[in-house]
Amino acid sequence: MPPADILLTATGIIKNFGGLTALNGVSISVRRGEIFGLIGPNGAGKTTLFNVLTGIYAADAGELVFDGRPVDGSKPHLVAQHGIARTFQNIRLFGGMTALENVMVGRHVRTHTGVLGAVLRTRGAAIEERAITQRARELLDYCGLAARAGSLARDLPYGDQRRLEIARALATDPRLLALDEPAAGMNATETATLRKLLERILGDGITLLLIEHDMKLVMGLSHRVAVLDYGEKIAEGEPAAVQRDAKVITAYLGGALV
Ligand SMILES: Nc1ncnc2c1ncn2[C@@H]1O[C@H](COP(=O)(O)OP(=O)(O)OP(=O)(O)O)[C@@H](O)[C@H]1O
Ligand SMILES: [Mg+2]
Repeated sequence: MPPADILLTATGIIKNFGGLTALNGVSISVRRGEIFGLIGPNGAGKTTLFNVLTGIYAADAGELVFDGRPVDGSKPHLVAQHGIARTFQNIRLFGGMTALENVMVGRHVRTHTGVLGAVLRTRGAAIEERAITQRARELLDYCGLAARAGSLARDLPYGDQRRLEIARALATDPRLLALDEPAAGMNATETATLRKLLERILGDGITLLLIEHDMKLVMGLSHRVAVLDYGEKIAEGEPAAVQRDAKVITAYLGGALV
């Protein structure tokens, strides 16, 4: 059994795409209640690791243990039921639905009647639908989007869309929230708002796994950071130590490590 303070362990993860090895034996352990940063140059394998952790891709080798239970081979919706939620590097909202509806879709993972009951409009589903709507409104408020509830997702400013993705992920009541470049494309004001939101989420007991190219943000927020390069973990530790690591500096030469 892993120690109780470890929420997620990935061990020896290998993922090949044809002749390309995107992950070559990557291992990480994420502790309960921390922000774990995952950094590395473009193409290093960060998103692929998220895709394996969230059941989108099956690993070719390796083990995943979440909260003491193996999750290998799980389908994405089962991973959500285990308590892992994520956002995507390329925003994946339902553009033609309102912000509120987007969060409600996330919430359906947690309900009994599910999407089919909602479509068939059973009595139980109607009661549940009210609860879902209320929770979705609370989450929009929590993410600073209360005033946007009725706006179509595609009409929202970029920073709001990114926070809406977070609200939708939170609707599944995750214990681990995995964020793939949440600050990408944000201006300084939006990034500062995002930072406060992430600190609030952490304060509410949700563990965070954070892929981010904004070094100031990821180094400032993370308790520990792992660095991937060409599918291998080349460093791991506290941000200050990782930033001084010679292998990390070399991997980022010409890149954006501040
Ligand atoms: N579905 C796929 N099919 C084939 N190759 C893929 C696929 N997904 C990722 N790759 C390749 O795997 C490698 C790792 O990609 P990945 O998207 O995980 O990198 P990343 O670290 O997230 O990069 P970035 O910072 O640019 O988002 C890259 O060479 C990429 O081209
Ligand atoms: Mg990526």
